[in-house]
Amino acid sequence: MIGSDFAELQLFITGPILLRKEVREAGLLPEFGHRDAENEKRFGPIMENLRKLAGAPEDYEVMIFNGSGTNVLEASVRSLVADGDKVLNVSVGAFGDLYHKLAVVNGKNAVQLKFDYGCGIDLERLEQALEDHAPDIVTFTHNETSTGVVNDVPAVCSLIRKYGAKPIVDAVSIFGGAPSTILEARPLMYCTSTQKSLGLPAGFGIGFVSPEALEKAKGVENRGYTTDILAQADKARKNQTLTTPNGTLANQMCVQLDYIVNDETVEKRFARHEQMRDMVHEWAKTMEGYSLFAQEGFRSPTVTTIKTAPGMTVEKLKQVKEIMRGYGYLFDPGYGKINKELEDNGHQPIFRIGHMADITPDMLAEYLKILGKVLAEI
Ligand SMILES: Cc1ncc(COP(=O)(O)O)c(C=O)c1O
Repeated sequence: MIGSDFAELQLFITGPILLRKEVREAGLLPEFGHRDAENEKRFGPIMENLRKLAGAPEDYEVMIFNGSGTNVLEASVRSLVADGDKVLNVSVGAFGDLYHKLAVVNGKNAVQLKFDYGCGIDLERLEQALEDHAPDIVTFTHNETSTGVVNDVPAVCSLIRKYGAKPIVDAVSIFGGAPSTILEARPLMYCTSTQKSLGLPAGFGIGFVSPEALEKAKGVENRGYTTDILAQADKARKNQTLTTPNGTLANQMCVQLDYIVNDETVEKRFARHEQMRDMVHEWAKTMEGYSLFAQEGFRSPTVTTIKTAPGMTVEKLKQVKEIMRGYGYLFDPGYGKINKELEDNGHQPIFRIGHMADITPDMLAEYLKILGKVLAEI
């Protein structure tokens, strides 16, 4: 039978993530018409709970884009960077680079500011780049999944505003695991998606869009169609998607957001993520030769990167992955391109521990115990 050999692994990668049993079961709820009254029963609560989870200001629109995180990032570029604009893409890793790529392939006038892997956004260097380039729009990553770096969104947004530019934030791997800070930072647009800290399958990008962004988009030509936040806004105001949504995911999202907001509660969810980050940090201290990769003060609550001990290689990390599979886990041997660059430059490779969404401290403790044993023996 098809599926009988699909492995039931606990995913400790950085998305997709492990799904709660109730989320999997919600996949069996009835399909519905997205222009029918049944749509409101799903997307009414979805929109309301997304707002609560984000602590989003009243005047921000919440939009659901079909696709994944990249689709909402692309929508922000297409809708908010005008032909005469300059966009500065600030990158602390692979996903910051992705934003730059999206700007370039969409024909935007884009420049990039890159920080070393493991470093967060340094405000002095950012200030220099703002002075040098005088950008209209600046993109940056809230939580860089490839390096385990979290940036200070309000501080970065405030500096960008000081230079008259408008910030757009990629929050794909952190939303649902830590405060969005949208209320304080008021970015032009804040983008995320379902398959990471929200504990859902991939399938929707989510945008929190300021009134300023809707105004700005009016002056941008060639916004595309599914990437046009003005077209999206018309439907979002009716709690609808612009094009046919994945009904299975919508059912799951309705159930999961209700659980997050009303059962677990937002505060406890964020606290659990911090607790798990601290657990991994403590564990790393016990691992001889291993150390935390991300710069102190910029260490993510949803993904931790660990620099390996001398002697560990990318090849050996692949073996670790297979041994961990034998224990029922999916281990993350690090972001391929970054590890290649690290090794080529004579540095130790890194691996990642995704501790996001609905992983519990007990599950994480068990995982770390086994991983520690496997790493010590290899
Ligand atoms: C920070 C960040 N941005 C963007 C993306 C791209 O999102 P997606 O794979 O959902 O298109 C990812 C995916 O891992 C990510 O972690």
